[in-house]
Amino acid sequence: MKKLRKPLVVANWKMNILPSKACQLAEEIKNRTNNTGIDIVIAPPYTHLALMSHLSSADFSLGAQNVHSEVSGAFTGSISVDMLKDLQVQYVILGHSERRESNINENIFLEKKIDNCLRGKLNIIYCCGESLEVRQRNEEKEFVISQLEDSFSKLKVWSPQQIVIAYEPIWAIGTGLTASAEQADVIHLCIRNWIADQFGDQSAHQTRILYGGSVKSSNAHELASKENIDGFLVGGASLNVEEFSVIAHAFNHII
Ligand code: PGA
Repeated sequence: MKKLRKPLVVANWKMNILPSKACQLAEEIKNRTNNTGIDIVIAPPYTHLALMSHLSSADFSLGAQNVHSEVSGAFTGSISVDMLKDLQVQYVILGHSERRESNINENIFLEKKIDNCLRGKLNIIYCCGESLEVRQRNEEKEFVISQLEDSFSKLKVWSPQQIVIAYEPIWAIGTGLTASAEQADVIHLCIRNWIADQFGDQSAHQTRILYGGSVKSSNAHELASKENIDGFLVGGASLNVEEFSVIAHAFNHII
């Protein structure tokens, strides 16, 4: 079955890799993924972005792992949308569960961050996903939809070119446990239906919904074959060129 949307695979390096090693790893990833016909984003720590900005090209885009909710000002230790844009950064990951866990106020600021990013023409990769307790109560659909409602309630126009959703069940992140392809596809469809209800069928049809949570070479093909899975947000396996290249090529036979 052909993919309806151009697949996107994102390398989320988290707090790994020294700046001095970042360009080499990015070059290796670029050389191994430049013929996949899909979009690739590499999201290193902030400290690496300036060093890597000359490398981003048609082969991959640069992403950041977070951004501040204010445009500028006295916010020690923070980074703005304009600063990222000035370094050719095209995507930013928002609402990652690791950030929501380390900062209880993260949820509150997401709406403003989304607004700033969209105004500043910085594409967003919005993360959502339930904990193990929520899944055990069979409330994962309601939970994910409530996250979307909280973050996008004031949005008037949904731009599928600028908004990517990443479904990342918390119980699958860095644990080696992966949602089965069926489990992921069910939630992806539910997210797509929510977008259709709120913003229309065309927005829903064009929006890329990524899966994240222990994606690796051994499960990427099965996940990629699902109709509503349009790409991956890859943590641990994105630090290994071999693994990441197999994951990026998982969409080869279906695009
Ligand atoms: P993981 O991380 O692939 O190491 O599970 C995914 C993520 O947190 O984005």
